[in-house]
Amino acid sequence: MAWFHTFFDKEYVEMLRVRRSNSVTSIEAKFIQKHLRLRKGKNVLDAPCGFGRHALKFARFGCNVTGVDLSKAMLAARKRHTRISYERMDIRRMKFVEKFDGIFSSSNGYFSDRDNRKLLKTFAKALKPGGRAMLWTFSVKERAAKPESRSWAKHGGRYIFSEQKFNLRTGLYEAKWYVWRAGFQKPWMRKVQVRGYSVATWRRDLKNAGLKLIAAMPKPTSDGDGVGLALLAEKPR
Ligand SMILES: C[S@@+](CC[C@H](N)C(=O)[O-])C[C@H]1O[C@@H](n2cnc3c(N)ncnc32)[C@H](O)[C@@H]1O
Repeated sequence: MAWFHTFFDKEYVEMLRVRRSNSVTSIEAKFIQKHLRLRKGKNVLDAPCGFGRHALKFARFGCNVTGVDLSKAMLAARKRHTRISYERMDIRRMKFVEKFDGIFSSSNGYFSDRDNRKLLKTFAKALKPGGRAMLWTFSVKERAAKPESRSWAKHGGRYIFSEQKFNLRTGLYEAKWYVWRAGFQKPWMRKVQVRGYSVATWRRDLKNAGLKLIAAMPKPTSDGDGVGLALLAEKPR
């Protein structure tokens, strides 16, 4: 079973809560709102949405939000709002057609090259003509400058240690996460594998999917694990 089926459990939910504060989420949501031109009444897809920290902000901007995620634990902790509907689903199986004015996808590169490219087509299909998508990913350039790293952090009574390795040849980023918490003898340990691509490859793959890359910007906040890239793409009218 692929890592993402088990990684996003209850412990991860707690870790995400303490690592991404409400003020960090507000900064991120305003950045996304500006670039996706989110206004009252717009339809937005947040996929994967996690427990809906961005979805809630989009709903408060007056948007109608669809949040899609695979993790039971994430959706059990979902932020509720009358303008948000959540669906538990593998994002690779989404079948939306020209429904959304904007798509936000926080997590890209989780799948095989083929599935990552296919997902871009799924997003393109789900967008209305003229709609915009913002995809977040890590930056290959940033990782290549520091292909191996380790980091420690203390958040809300948890000690979090991660070891990261980036393979310049394959573009594969692998990380091991350990979380210690008071009262627990053994750390929570999980492995992650994410694929990264150059901006030129993203541009080509987005184009093949029917989307035009209009900007590749630094993400508005850092998660202590690099800044990464925010790719902004548009579906031509
Ligand atoms: C790093 S979290 C980000 C969640 C949220 N967007 C945020 O920023 O708080 C990545 C999310 O991707 C979800 N995910 C991973 N693989 C998935 C898949 N195949 N289909 C749907 N969701 C998936 C996980 O359950 C998790 O909630």
